[in-house]
Amino acid sequence: MNSVDLEDPSANRLDSQRKVVDPCSIVIFGASGDLTARKLIPAFYHLYKEHQLPAAFRIVGFARREKSDASFRAELREALDVFSRTKPVEDAVWEQFAGHISYCRGDLTDRSAYEKLERQLASFQPAELRNNLLFYLAISPSQFGEAVENLHQTGMLKPPEPGGWQRIVVEKPFGHDLASAHALNNELTRYAHESQVFRIDHYLGKETVQNILMFRFSNSIFERLWSRDSVDHVQITVSEQHAVGSRGGYYEEAGAMRDMLQNHMLQVLSLATMEPPVSLEAEAIRDEKVKLLKSIRPFTPESVARQVVRGQYFAGVVEGKPQVGYRQEAKVRPDSNVETYVAAKLFIDNWRWSGVPFYLRTGKCLPLGASEVRIQFRPTPNVLFSAASNGRLDPNSLTLRLQPNEGITLRFNGKIPGPRVGARPVRMHFSYDSEFGAYTPEAYERLLLEAIAGDATLFIRRDEVEAAWQIVDSIRRNWEGKPLSNREFYAAGTWGPIAAEELLAQAGHVWRDPQPLK
Ligand SMILES: NC(=O)c1ccc[n+]([C@@H]2O[C@H](COP(=O)([O-])OP(=O)(O)OC[C@H]3O[C@@H](n4cnc5c(N)ncnc54)[C@H](OP(=O)(O)O)[C@@H]3O)[C@@H](O)[C@H]2O)c1
Repeated sequence: MNSVDLEDPSANRLDSQRKVVDPCSIVIFGASGDLTARKLIPAFYHLYKEHQLPAAFRIVGFARREKSDASFRAELREALDVFSRTKPVEDAVWEQFAGHISYCRGDLTDRSAYEKLERQLASFQPAELRNNLLFYLAISPSQFGEAVENLHQTGMLKPPEPGGWQRIVVEKPFGHDLASAHALNNELTRYAHESQVFRIDHYLGKETVQNILMFRFSNSIFERLWSRDSVDHVQITVSEQHAVGSRGGYYEEAGAMRDMLQNHMLQVLSLATMEPPVSLEAEAIRDEKVKLLKSIRPFTPESVARQVVRGQYFAGVVEGKPQVGYRQEAKVRPDSNVETYVAAKLFIDNWRWSGVPFYLRTGKCLPLGASEVRIQFRPTPNVLFSAASNGRLDPNSLTLRLQPNEGITLRFNGKIPGPRVGARPVRMHFSYDSEFGAYTPEAYERLLLEAIAGDATLFIRRDEVEAAWQIVDSIRRNWEGKPLSNREFYAAGTWGPIAAEELLAQAGHVWRDPQPLK
């Protein structure tokens, strides 16, 4: 047990069912990098503070830079002061937590460095700290294959067997197209069994994303409406207010489609539309997600031209501040055609969703940073209140707000008080914060805990990654060599290009933009 006597703040929260976590050692490859400082250490610190880590554990950082255990801890502490979600960092908790952290200097390409790491692990007591090993690869994907091979060759990564476990956690990007994702998966699974590979999509660590399944499958009133019989169309928006900033070099290789749609958005889409799984087992849920992804109608050159819009921001104003255009950003080619915005109309060719359009859009430099799923229901015949509503009675909608203002909003029509028959849309809000208190663990806290507990539900399986790339490739290959048209540029600080409005107008639909909650 942790010896710091702290009140347990999560006792009556959504995650109060504690996972069984075995004593283990966590090795972070890339321990001097941005991800470790920004996300991993703050997440481990909070898990420790909330008594969620195993009774015995060690964290070993591995990287090339020269550091002692003490200087490594001091650097992590500095970063924690900046990135911790709770402030100030509690000195007593940190001191105890830091006692579990050590550093191993080495180069990933050098076999002897792994032998040194192995010797460090071999000195840990009790035995579980030597046998239960979580390897977090916070390094470039091009280094995954070599790291996994060396871990295998030095005996730290063994095939799944009783008496211990070893797991590999990897970060996106999982390739940049289907062929490279396939090759990367082959590299990872040459020496690790698929059940040992935990692919992170941090969106799945968000409470609100997990709530999609809870909401759908524990509420009979909504699940009955969740099909082509009642749903007119669905809009999924993941908007970002910020520009590419210092990540221009990365973004030139990625673009909005690879950066957001291939992973986060298709994950959200599959959770919002999949069939009920036979159980809450990881494989049962992941099977349904894969089935859903495989039911998405493949794109042809004609349907890409009709159903997909790219966009790129030019100079504008975001939140009252001037913003340069994408082509003027650092490390961006001045004639770049990389998309900073994408909108697509998808169809899911299965029994439940046949004929229902799904509109997905994501972009940078939009007016508001928000993620939401909006289910737009079919309109009523409106023979009774046509006059009272100027012929346009608002169709009902249900919005799952994933961030910010996490919650759910139901929009329906209400009578305007008074002697006249007048209708106007009103809203019913559920807010996470007001219902459950401001409980906002970072996605990484949940994901790290699940990886330690060996529950793969919130991680992406190999066939999911590859099914998602298949969809994205079928779109992207039609863009090659084609410059953006004038209708695909948008001013920074607006909701995207005119072509995206036209995409919905074809079917008489309009984008419903996320609204700041008053
Ligand atoms: N940062 C984020 O927020 C974020 C978010 C999502 C995904 N990711 C992914 O996470 C991974 C890490 O990202 P990052 O931003 O932390 O990268 P980073 O800041 O560039 O860090 C890379 C780390 O790898 C180590 N490294 C590189 N070559 C090595 C070698 N030959 N031997 C040993 N260590 C080596 C570096 O340490 P030394 O130089 O000391 O060796 C450094 O600690 C990437 O795959 C990235 O795409 C990051």
